[in-house]
Amino acid sequence: MTPDDLKALVRTVPGFPKPGILFRDITTLIAHGEGLRSSVDALANLANGLGASAVAGIEARGFIFGTALALELGMGFIPLRKPGKLPVATLHEDYALEYGTARLELDPTLVNADERVLLVDDLLATGGTAIAAATLLRRAGAVVDHALFVIDLPELAGRTALEDHGLATHAVMA
Ligand code: PRP
Ligand code: HPA
Repeated sequence: MTPDDLKALVRTVPGFPKPGILFRDITTLIAHGEGLRSSVDALANLANGLGASAVAGIEARGFIFGTALALELGMGFIPLRKPGKLPVATLHEDYALEYGTARLELDPTLVNADERVLLVDDLLATGGTAIAAATLLRRAGAVVDHALFVIDLPELAGRTALEDHGLATHAVMA
C-alpha cells in the first residue's frame, strides 16, 4: 500500500478530546489487516541501517507498532509506561501534551549500557512525548538518536523539537 492508501485508513475526528483538536484516529488503520501489515513493513524499512539493537515503544498505541516492529527486526521491546503500572523502581519524566500533561515511567534495568535503542510511536504531534521517552532511555544508559512514527503532524512542528533534542524523525506518512 502507498503512504496515501495508508493515510486514507486513518479516521479524522474533529473536537476530540477537546474542542479545536483535529484528532487523527489510527485505530481504523490498526484494524485493517493489509494496512497494519503495510505500516509495520514501512517502519521496518525506515529502521533499516539505523544500527539499533532494541526497540522502545510508548504506551499505549506505541506498544502496538513497537512490538510488531521489534518482532520484525528480531529485537527485544522496551515499554515506556504510563504512571503506576510497573512493579519495580522506575525513572519518570513529566511532559506537556497537545491536550494536557502526562508522565512516562521506565524500568532502567531493561536497558543495557550504551545500547542503541530505536524509539517508536504511532504519531508525532508536538514531540513532548517522544522527547520525554528519549530522555528516560538516555538516563537509563541507552543511545537514542532516531524516532520512528506512523504519522507525523507537521503543523505541530514535532520534528524540529525532536531535532533540538538530538533525535532524527522518520515517519511513514505526514
Ligand atoms: C498520543 C500519541 C503520542 C502522543 C503524541 O498519545 O500516541 O504518544 O500523543 O503527542 P505529542 O507529540 O504532542 O507528545 P496519548 O498520550 O494520547 O496516549 P495513548 O497512546 O495512551 O492514547
Ligand atoms: N491523534 C492521535 N494522537 C494525538 C493526536 C492526534 O491527532 N494529537 C496528539 N496526540
